Amino acid sequence: MRAVDIIMKKRGNPTAPAGSSLSREEIAFLISGYVQGEIPDYQISAWLMSVYFNGMNFVETGYLTDVMLTSGSVIDLSGLTGPFVDKHSTGGVGDKISLPLAPIVAAAGVCVPMMSGRALGHTGGTLDKLESITGYKTALSVREFRNILSKTGFAMTGQTKEIVPADRLLYALRDVTGTVESVPLITASILSKKVAEGADALVFDVKCGSGAFMKNLADAQKLADSLAGTGKAMGKKVVALITAMDEPLGYKIGNFLEIEESMDVLEGHGPQDVTELTLLCGAWMTVLAHKASSVDEGKDLCRQAIHSGKAMELFLENVRLQGGDVPRLLADRESRRSRHTTTIRAEQTGAISSIDAFTTGLAGVYLGVGRNKTDEQVCPDAGIILKYKKGDRVNAGDVIMEVYGKDEACLDPAVHLLQKAISISSSVPDKTPLILKEITAL
Ligand code: URA
Repeated sequence: MRAVDIIMKKRGNPTAPAGSSLSREEIAFLISGYVQGEIPDYQISAWLMSVYFNGMNFVETGYLTDVMLTSGSVIDLSGLTGPFVDKHSTGGVGDKISLPLAPIVAAAGVCVPMMSGRALGHTGGTLDKLESITGYKTALSVREFRNILSKTGFAMTGQTKEIVPADRLLYALRDVTGTVESVPLITASILSKKVAEGADALVFDVKCGSGAFMKNLADAQKLADSLAGTGKAMGKKVVALITAMDEPLGYKIGNFLEIEESMDVLEGHGPQDVTELTLLCGAWMTVLAHKASSVDEGKDLCRQAIHSGKAMELFLENVRLQGGDVPRLLADRESRRSRHTTTIRAEQTGAISSIDAFTTGLAGVYLGVGRNKTDEQVCPDAGIILKYKKGDRVNAGDVIMEVYGKDEACLDPAVHLLQKAISISSSVPDKTPLILKEITAL
């Protein structure tokens, strides 16, 4: 077998039409060759692009998921008290839901083994956000993962050389080769991680809108169906939510900035949209874990976890166990900012009619929240603070955004983008729903 022949089969050639299905052996040849360092980045990049353009059917997606999963070992959670329930977002801007969600649901008595990703394209990554906490370690050994899970009811890790190494490599490569927005590639990436971490049941938050990888409801529905169908075929109970991502979630976009806003949610004074989505995902997780018999009851359990202080207690205990410096986190909160900063002011009086999530996320990448090359470091203190959200009234000259960059040079191009992201109109726009659809495949 040759990698180039498999690339050309998916791309299309005189003997195989574009999009021809690949066999399990062909997919395994590419992925295991890549993980073992025998197939180079440039061939895998070409193959990813051919999948991006020509897709994969449901059977190929299942093969890819399985081959990625078996590129490493599956975490054995035996001896710990299940059921094990997790949530995964398909990626958004300001989407910090996993950070407050895991301790809230753990405080409600559900065990949450969480394997997350880094920034991807214009979207942020849970691992990069967690690593902005001084000392916080996200590459846990299986022993450490199990140990932390048994103590705090949740643990946060990333793909390693042992666990889904294929996703570790492919994820980083897709991030910088324009090959993220693909239903089969997203499905295999997410599900390989979720099966490897040992979850029994999953909530998928499928983002839809300008700041999502799926820009419209029809595409988001396809991704939700693919995640639910593949998840179910792999023996998992699945709930998929389709949620709006036209405007960033919350007021803070960035790595440490999103840790701060997550702590606000844990204290019961987080932004309305972040809190609403956290409670809905949490409620479904408690239902899947049989701790609640309805979504409303699940939301009550999550609210109690916040108001009793238990969720924040578990969050700080998790930070400590994963190597994070808790006193420094508490001291840095609301004060640690990059010194390379500027503001954006309203050019006219009126109401904010939109803050485009994609353009804002892209500006975040320029500022250093995400990467342009696989080996680039993100800047923990870069990001954007929104002073207003859609529907808010502003006066000409008001500061609408605070902008923090990795250096001085990145500020101008980011500001240029952010100015394009903001629209102000004379009338207040209609409110748009955050939750667009709930799909259960139990
Ligand atoms: N989240 C993932 O883990 N993978 C993707 O491809 C997209 C979002």
